Amino acid sequence: MRTESMTERLDAAVAILQSHDQGHLTDGLESVGTSEVQAFIEQVESIDFEELQTLVTKGATNDGIPEALEPAPVIPRHPKDEETFRSAGEQLIRQGEIAAFTVAGGQGTRLGWNGPKGTYPATPITGKPLFRVFAEQLNAIDQRYGIETPWYLMTSPLNDAATHAFFRDNNYFGRSPESMLLFPQGVMPAVDDEGRILLEAPGVIAVSPDGHGGSLRALARSGALDHAADRGVKHLSYFQVDNPTVHAIDPLFIGLHATHPASSGEMSSKMVPKIAAGEKVGVFCSVGDRTRVIEYSDLPAKHATATTEDGSLRFIAGSIAIHILAVDFIDRLTTAGSETAMPFHLARKKVPFWDPKNGETVNPPEPNGTKFEMFVFDALEFVDQGLVYETDRVEEFAPIKNADGGDSAKSSGQLQTERAARWMEVAGSKVARNEDGTVNGQIEILASTALSAADLEAGSCPELAPGSQLVF
Ligand code: UD1
Repeated sequence: MRTESMTERLDAAVAILQSHDQGHLTDGLESVGTSEVQAFIEQVESIDFEELQTLVTKGATNDGIPEALEPAPVIPRHPKDEETFRSAGEQLIRQGEIAAFTVAGGQGTRLGWNGPKGTYPATPITGKPLFRVFAEQLNAIDQRYGIETPWYLMTSPLNDAATHAFFRDNNYFGRSPESMLLFPQGVMPAVDDEGRILLEAPGVIAVSPDGHGGSLRALARSGALDHAADRGVKHLSYFQVDNPTVHAIDPLFIGLHATHPASSGEMSSKMVPKIAAGEKVGVFCSVGDRTRVIEYSDLPAKHATATTEDGSLRFIAGSIAIHILAVDFIDRLTTAGSETAMPFHLARKKVPFWDPKNGETVNPPEPNGTKFEMFVFDALEFVDQGLVYETDRVEEFAPIKNADGGDSAKSSGQLQTERAARWMEVAGSKVARNEDGTVNGQIEILASTALSAADLEAGSCPELAPGSQLVF
């Protein structure tokens, strides 16, 4: 039954819709029940129609690709004073100033997995889910430094309940639930070519996650920034849910971010050299005194294929979507006015919609609508000095994005094994390899055993016999 206040709220929602030429969204509303109407009102109330109107009339709010694009300067691997920076990072970790932040709101469409991506089996032998891989790393970090690392995990309204349930069912993988905050990101409505918001069903507006750039707003809105500030956390170590070899908390990277003269300590990023002009990774560029990531789909071909005198790619700094962001910086970005508003990117997509004419859901064969997403790397625009640090691909980039082929669990598993083999070889242990140099077998090293090659003690490592599996 509709209460009086609900009727008032519905009237107000309808008035808002009409004033923004979106009155068609009430089509079919008379056929749905009270709780659906309630949910519809909440959807309408959560939409920023002014913002949407601007996007529809002006298009993307990013400025397009600037002409004066230069490759971004990069701090090389093993930088000068490496040990000093690592110690500075360790000090910050020990002082409890670092939290982990995972974005896990993506829909994982390419993976074809029926559940949150973080529940996907990721390791080559035991098939540990991604979330567990990260949790075990954080457990090892906590053990080593005698701390409890807060972990912020952004879900989306589509996978939030399933993600909560997964952690509950697995006892939070031994982490204290109070140190974790799971929160859903925001959504944006999808519009048709006339700028009319699409209906998914009567009383249900078609929305999709607002991109990982929405994570900054979501951190503020969810109370995660306050949670961090209350605990004295100064920086968030940001990574995507799809990369099981990420060093979730990396002392050297943290030290560089917080203390290197080329960093303003607001936001830093890791890169690996691209392996081919067409590799699907964003590229770090410089525009004037700012660092920017230009997404692979936006980088003009002349830049993507340009080479230097020695034949290597000119725009070579591939983004592996690992950053550190200062809590103060996120706070500034999310509380200041529109001058620090993150831009939206537009993507034309096939958006299923409900057609009131025949009361049926239409699955369009061609893109029929536009979705709006923010990208976290656009925050670099507001950074005084954004540091970009080169890391090793085998060491920390083995993403799982596709069901098979490149960037699949299989290719990631091979990279995980290769990394483990290298660590073992550094420690003087024998690893069976094939003639082509690939590892002849599979290896998983537990985070509690080692977080990097330096943690394996020379002479105390097992060996990998040909064709065998090794977990230690
Ligand atoms: C992304 C980067 C690319 C980078 C590559 C490295 C973008 C646009 N591109 O490509 O520059 O080189 O990773 O692997 O990011 N996510 C959310 N909410 C959303 C959308 C995405 O949390 O609304 C999360 C996903 O769960 C995932 C990550 O963001 O963890 C990446 O998103 P995805 O759209 O898959 O980006 P890629 O095309 O893989």
